[in-house]
Amino acid sequence: MTGGAGFIGSNFARHILGSHPEDSVVNLDKLTYAGNLENLRDLEKDPRYRFVRGDICDRVVVREAMEGVDAVVHCAAETHVDRSNAGAGEFLTTNVSGTFTLLEAARERKIQRFVAVGTDEVYGSIAKGAARELDPLNPSNPYSASKAAADLLARAYWTTHRLPVVVTRSSNNFGPYQYPEKVIPLFITNALEDTPLPLYGDGKNVRDWLYVLDNCAAIDVVLRKGKDGEIYNIGGGNEVENVVLTRQVLHLLGKPESLITSVKDRPGHDRRYALDSGKVAALGWKPAHSFGAALEATVAWYRDHEAWWKPIKSGAFRAYYEKQYSSR
Ligand SMILES: NC(=O)c1ccc[n+]([C@@H]2O[C@H](COP(=O)([O-])OP(=O)(O)OC[C@H]3O[C@@H](n4cnc5c(N)ncnc54)[C@H](O)[C@@H]3O)[C@@H](O)[C@H]2O)c1
Repeated sequence: MTGGAGFIGSNFARHILGSHPEDSVVNLDKLTYAGNLENLRDLEKDPRYRFVRGDICDRVVVREAMEGVDAVVHCAAETHVDRSNAGAGEFLTTNVSGTFTLLEAARERKIQRFVAVGTDEVYGSIAKGAARELDPLNPSNPYSASKAAADLLARAYWTTHRLPVVVTRSSNNFGPYQYPEKVIPLFITNALEDTPLPLYGDGKNVRDWLYVLDNCAAIDVVLRKGKDGEIYNIGGGNEVENVVLTRQVLHLLGKPESLITSVKDRPGHDRRYALDSGKVAALGWKPAHSFGAALEATVAWYRDHEAWWKPIKSGAFRAYYEKQYSSR
């Protein structure tokens, strides 16, 4: 797998090693600002787990990491929309060229299954109803445009080269080990520190929240049962307005709503995402966690893991955060 030191990747590595005793995992990760080996400490001693530090754009490293591998689950990416709005170069390099490098190596190595982990953001804002897999793509920001390019390229490798690719497009994930620039861990940790929660615009943007462990289970199902060349939407079925989510977080922590601070909206901010997940449901997957219980567990995890997030928030993140929100 790639990107295993990030949020979804680390949860996915733990999921695979925990639920498939016969499997082993090679984790190729560059350790960007978002990659953190603390996310994987508990796996380090497992003889079925191996970490390779490297860039997915590096052909030699990628080729070596794929030696003896049956399947690739490609999670590595630049993932933060605000950062892509500030500068898209790294997004194109990692998300597009990096995916290309992996696909080429997978062809050469005759990999039996390549899962390109993607996002619902490629469909753009959905005013009504729910996006289906063959709907037109309409990405609004450089992050989602780079992810659209990556998943279209991956599919093209099936159509043209018969590389057995499957693509997942999931909705917004939340859960343990998510880098605290993303809204849920940012709001939980800000609330724990009694600092303002910067809510974009009118707070009425809607996201369909998916607990990360449910996404990992879905990726696993697609990895094993998905049909070559197919795309699978993975939605949590939990559409929540940002302002409602913010109040829920504060309520769970017993903090006052006066911590909510309205900030100027993100440019190109999609209003609503919604997915039809019928195809992945037909493979036998459905979310195992309710939104309320998963949010409560997530809040509890950050409350109990200050030692994980405090160093992140007091390091380089601080300068980024101040620059991001001071002008709003
Ligand atoms: N988080 C979400 O809500 C969400 C939703 C849908 C899809 N996705 C997709 O899931 C995947 C994982 O997202 P995440 O939230 O875990 O991301 P993340 O930002 O937490 O982690 C990304 C990981 O990729 C690694 N990485 C970045 N560039 C690399 C490179 N050039 N070479 C090797 N490793 C590199 C980082 O070090 C990090 O460990 C991404 O493809 C993302 O687009 C995420």
